[in-house]
Amino acid sequence: MLETAFTRLVGCSVPIQLAGMGSINGPELTAAVSEAGAFGQITFAGTLPKDAEARMNRIEELTSKPFGVNLIMPFFDPAILRMVIPRARVVDFFWGEPDVRLIDQVHAGGALASWQVGSIREAINAEKAGCDFIIAQGIEAGGHIRGRLSLLPLLSAVLDAVSVPVLAAGGIGTARSVAAVLFAGAAGARVGTRFIAAEESNAHPEYVRALIAARAEDAVETTRFEVDCPMCPSQHRVLRSALEAAEALPDRPLGEIDISGERYPIARFQGTVVSKQVEGRIDAMACYAGQSVGGVRRVQSAGEIVAELAGGAEALLARLAVAQVAP
Ligand SMILES: Cc1cc2nc3c(=O)[nH]c(=O)nc-3n(C[C@H](O)[C@H](O)[C@H](O)COP(=O)(O)O)c2cc1C
Repeated sequence: MLETAFTRLVGCSVPIQLAGMGSINGPELTAAVSEAGAFGQITFAGTLPKDAEARMNRIEELTSKPFGVNLIMPFFDPAILRMVIPRARVVDFFWGEPDVRLIDQVHAGGALASWQVGSIREAINAEKAGCDFIIAQGIEAGGHIRGRLSLLPLLSAVLDAVSVPVLAAGGIGTARSVAAVLFAGAAGARVGTRFIAAEESNAHPEYVRALIAARAEDAVETTRFEVDCPMCPSQHRVLRSALEAAEALPDRPLGEIDISGERYPIARFQGTVVSKQVEGRIDAMACYAGQSVGGVRRVQSAGEIVAELAGGAEALLARLAVAQVAP
């Protein structure tokens, strides 16, 4: 058992958190990760309050284990925050200055609050604002990249700068990397890309196939997928194949997305996450991927992914403990 300050705080048994990943994280993936003993999260960003409520209901049907709700500040909706606080164990924020009023509101409703940060300064501010734990995101991460430091320099400095538990995020897709950040002092790992290929994920199957075919060096940083994205201009990490395919196409819509029964066009270089609700030139859309993509080899259940990462990390750390006492 890999018990840490994070597992004790949130009430899970494995120090792995499912990263917020927009509409990739449906209720099924969130619940499956929590059921496996790790900490599932769902993201509401640009989600209609009635849809958010239906997804919360569905998670609660699927699991009675604790889970979190991830909110992105440029999409912030106070009605959704009010609805989720009494039902989520953690409300997790990203992409904005840590805000003491929001943290106080979360605490007053009985939930824990966390903030994913990209710099040492932002980590210190998140602790000052009252966060119960912090997630340090290195530039190896898939999706939008908050800061400019690689994970290990950021994690080391953040661990020295704050006293709340710190999770590590960015490029973690193998048991070795989970073990490495735990050994460095992180209270857990936040894992995104690896779970896109979970059976329960809401990612488009063509996107999943492209992730499986990719190696770590095929996840590249760009600023190009900025159309219709309130988090942009910003750095984000995507598959090189998607960037190159989009560059080669004429500047016309690449397909459509279905949102609550309405269809909307997807422009070239639009930042929209490639979910099952999207159709068209999937290969040229925003196929976000972290350097952890090298660990994505096949479609597996979320439970298998959690067991592989946690079991493998535990075995590696146990080996180290034995090495320390050996003559
Ligand atoms: C497809 C995708 C979508 C993402 N969307 C979000 C999001 O909605 N909210 C959020 O806090 N982070 C988001 N992120 C970033 C993750 O929280 C996390 O930092 C990242 O996945 C860690 O790197 P990894 O993908 O190598 O595991 C996203 C990442 C990916 C890959």
